Amino acid sequence: MALLDKIHDHSAVVGVVGLGYVGLPLAVLQAKTGFRVFGIDEDHEKIARIDKGQSYIGDVQDADLAHVSGTTGFSVTTNFNVLQKCDIVLICVPTPLTANKEPDLGAVLKVTKTLAQHAHPDMLVVLESTSYPGTTEEIIVPALTGRGLQAGRNLFVAFSPERVDPGNASFKTHNTAKLVGGVTSTCGEMARTFYEQSIVNIFPVSSARVAEMTKLVENVFRSVNIAFVNELAMLCDRMGINVHEVIDAATTKNFGFMPFYPGPGVGGHCIPLDPYYLSWKSKAYDLHARFIELAGEINEGMPYFVVGKLQRILNKNGKCLNGATILVLGVTYKADVGDPRQSPATKVMELLQTEGATLIYVDPFAPRLTLGDTEYAAKTLSPPLLTECDACLILTAHSTFDYDMIVERASIIFDTRNATRHVKKNKEHVTLL
Ligand SMILES: NC(=O)c1ccc[n+]([C@@H]2O[C@H](COP(=O)([O-])OP(=O)(O)OC[C@H]3O[C@@H](n4cnc5c(N)ncnc54)[C@H](O)[C@@H]3O)[C@@H](O)[C@H]2O)c1
Repeated sequence: MALLDKIHDHSAVVGVVGLGYVGLPLAVLQAKTGFRVFGIDEDHEKIARIDKGQSYIGDVQDADLAHVSGTTGFSVTTNFNVLQKCDIVLICVPTPLTANKEPDLGAVLKVTKTLAQHAHPDMLVVLESTSYPGTTEEIIVPALTGRGLQAGRNLFVAFSPERVDPGNASFKTHNTAKLVGGVTSTCGEMARTFYEQSIVNIFPVSSARVAEMTKLVENVFRSVNIAFVNELAMLCDRMGINVHEVIDAATTKNFGFMPFYPGPGVGGHCIPLDPYYLSWKSKAYDLHARFIELAGEINEGMPYFVVGKLQRILNKNGKCLNGATILVLGVTYKADVGDPRQSPATKVMELLQTEGATLIYVDPFAPRLTLGDTEYAAKTLSPPLLTECDACLILTAHSTFDYDMIVERASIIFDTRNATRHVKKNKEHVTLL
């Protein structure tokens, strides 16, 4: 049966490589749609947990895993030989940066090399990992074609960026609009038909490169705007103006203004990394993407600003950071999510450690945290903990924190997220970013 028919009647076998924040929800969705799905990951621990029916991703419930393995046949493995049986392969492996902030496509290259051994006619391969424009055409296609396989004729290759926003209660994988760009129009059409089976709103674009560029533009947009308000926060700090009041006031404009909020930096696997994929590639075209680099510089400088400002706050209260006990509230990269990757809180805490502070932290989403050689265990938020610390530093505004209690009990509070805005009590001891 031709691939298109197998997609339409859901008899196509789908392989999802990389079962993380992107791959696991996607694999479960495809299984729920009725496809036979193989989840492939090199991490034995993750495979063992899925086999036991235990999800490690907030957006996938244990019940979802039990449901799909029981009904449609969702199985997971570390053995890449199952790729031979797959008609469709979705690549969802990490695309980090090197220490010098250059693209590290090691995982994509490794998967592509293995996939080349199993590629067969009538196969659809889609890269979902974020990367610079040209990755699909320049890396995936040459590795998979030849030996009788030609893109657009009997092998279909596309890029379809994942836009999932972990923890977002309204938009999940199935109802987040999906871009699809094929290496050829036939490739794009095949990928579009596949995703239409499970995702409500597919938006085809003319090429894989357009899809790759669009994904990066979305994240650069956030990075640049966040950097702008972070710079504004530093200026307002010098001028003695409340930056949050300014942003709230500007938001009353009926058109032409979109609020972004300052914070201790940017985190997660997207905003701190993805923009550098584009600025790196832009250099090959003799263009230095200065907006991107500047935004990175400002956002990466925020943890240093936070530590400097905390030092000033302590000074004002006759205290010194060296030797002070700092209670950090929230260490994950964003509120109500358990993902600690690239969290600015980690950087702030490392800097505080270097300055000689004693650190305690509370985060219901992160029971343990390692900073250098030091292991920390999360404490439970309580009145004595707040009373005993020299200062309380709010870095991630989890909705489960009792901000009334925090404001009432802590003697010095530095709130980098404006998390205490709804507390009505006396807030003279609360400093905002
Ligand atoms: N997390 C997000 O919110 C998000 C959103 C949109 C796009 N993305 C992009 O999606 C991609 C994946 O991100 P993620 O957050 O799911 O990463 P992740 O680290 O949560 O998951 C990646 C998985 O791939 C596995 N893996 C690594 N190398 C492998 C290999 N060679 N073979 C098989 N498995 C391998 C890892 O063990 C891990 O389970 C990245 O390119 C990221 O930029 C992420």
